[in-house]
Amino acid sequence: MTEFDKGPILVTGASGGIGAATVRHLVRAGAQVIAAGRDEDKLAALAAETGCTTLAFDLTSEDSVRDALGDLDLWGVVNCGGWGGEIATPMDTDIDVFDKVIAVNTRGALLVTKYASRSMIRLGRGGAIVNVSSQAALVALKGHICYGASKAALDNITRVSALELGPHGIRVNGVHPTVVMTPMSAWYWGRPEIEGPFLSQMPLGRWATEDEIAAPIVFLLGDGASMITGVSLPIDGGYTAC
Ligand SMILES: NC(=O)c1ccc[n+]([C@@H]2O[C@H](COP(=O)([O-])OP(=O)(O)OC[C@H]3O[C@@H](n4cnc5c(N)ncnc54)[C@H](OP(=O)(O)O)[C@@H]3O)[C@@H](O)[C@H]2O)c1
Repeated sequence: MTEFDKGPILVTGASGGIGAATVRHLVRAGAQVIAAGRDEDKLAALAAETGCTTLAFDLTSEDSVRDALGDLDLWGVVNCGGWGGEIATPMDTDIDVFDKVIAVNTRGALLVTKYASRSMIRLGRGGAIVNVSSQAALVALKGHICYGASKAALDNITRVSALELGPHGIRVNGVHPTVVMTPMSAWYWGRPEIEGPFLSQMPLGRWATEDEIAAPIVFLLGDGASMITGVSLPIDGGYTAC
């Protein structure tokens, strides 16, 4: 018996870095994990490594989310699927990018919450949801007009979901990572003129690892967080506190 034996936990974005790390941590903690994304090869590799099951669907399509989650028994969800969009100012933003960032990061997470919470309520065992937001939702970061807006809207979804699902014993929380230095982040955050000033403002003065994001997500899902709901937990080396 483990604290995660109440039912399956769906992790979206599991074909990506933070999502895959979260799957590994949850499986090690004894959870039954359903790893979701679009890239079936990456999901299959993760399943072979960890023993998780997989589910491919597109966060931007309500039909796809409904078909995937409609009949699924779930106890928990990690809304980790996301897209970074562009680095742009309010003056030169591409509004099509804005629409797509919102479609994945905000609307996609809401669709998953919609169909997953129906199943969690139907099962009547309570549950927990963690939404993976960003430091970019808590403070203004240059270039992050679209991405920051999508994650700030996600934060309100976290709070309203906590309010609405609390009476069903379902907790909903958000985490706010700083940058994990993946190849995708490196092209922007790895530039000396961006990285240097940013890290000099951060008390811990370094980027996060995927494991350092996964561990607090697992904590928020678990029994140790049984009285915590509606919070926004920065995982940012203190950047947004200073
Ligand atoms: N990395 C960072 O520095 C950082 C910092 C703060 C917050 N975050 C947030 O943390 C989360 C994970 O980030 P990451 O760095 O692990 O990203 P990543 O490696 O780029 O992975 C992104 C994941 O989202 C999935 N995804 C994207 N669009 C999708 C769609 N339309 N339908 C279904 N799945 C979709 C991808 O699936 P497929 O590839 O299979 O399509 C992939 O699994 C994101 O929400 C991100 O915004 C990241």
